[in-house]
Amino acid sequence: MRVYKYKDYDEVSKAAANFVIREIIKKPNMILGLATGTSPIGLYKNLIKAYENEIISFKEVKTFNLDEYVGIDKNHPQSYYSFMHQYLFDHIDILPENINIPSNDENNVEELAEQYNKKMFGNQRDLQILGIGKNAHIGFNEPGSQLGSQTFIVKLDEQTRIDNSRFFNSLDEVPKLAITMGIRNIMYSKKILLIASGESKAEAVFKMVYGEVTDDVPASILQLHPDITIMVDEAAASKLKMDSNQLIF
Ligand code: F6R
Repeated sequence: MRVYKYKDYDEVSKAAANFVIREIIKKPNMILGLATGTSPIGLYKNLIKAYENEIISFKEVKTFNLDEYVGIDKNHPQSYYSFMHQYLFDHIDILPENINIPSNDENNVEELAEQYNKKMFGNQRDLQILGIGKNAHIGFNEPGSQLGSQTFIVKLDEQTRIDNSRFFNSLDEVPKLAITMGIRNIMYSKKILLIASGESKAEAVFKMVYGEVTDDVPASILQLHPDITIMVDEAAASKLKMDSNQLIF
């Protein structure tokens, strides 16, 4: 694991964007795994800037998103489909046919999960971007999810629904189900970049880095990935006892 500490959210966002930019420059037709939520918004802003400055192009990049809510329409303002268009896709030159986000049609969501899963095995991600939940979930693999899981329909943890209710009018409106890549799909990426900011993530970050590998702490499985980079701000790193700004082991 390589853990890098930065002053704050903006610094994490810049460093994480530079990491992704380097990968796109190295391999312009890369397959990129994407996350939603507050953590990657700054990273996406910096990627848009790099695109506008003609440093990178997304013309040949293919993307796969980690997850999507089930129970709201894909055009709902809080769907991850809407999120991705608002914060990234509408501002870059990615081709619509290269965008993959799990479909969430309630009528055949199990079948759609299987199709998404199959497609991912033919499209190994070169890089997967991850955030981390306060309960150490990755994607929507909540505590207790099987470490060998593949794309599935998950019942969201109450903690996750409460955390995400900030984007909805009330907790009642937050979907109870989601479709998510499984941990096995996430681990199948060649490289992983996880970003986290804020005091509320400190405990999860600590357990991910130093805790035992257990399905109670889904992010702990990342200790077993051969190429994982973690970028955190000072608050999220506050429990890590880092003497310098990096921790490599
Ligand atoms: C989002 C996702 C989640 C988030 C996590 C952190 O696609 O899969 O695992 O990364 O819930 O969310 P934020 O960044 O909003 O704190």
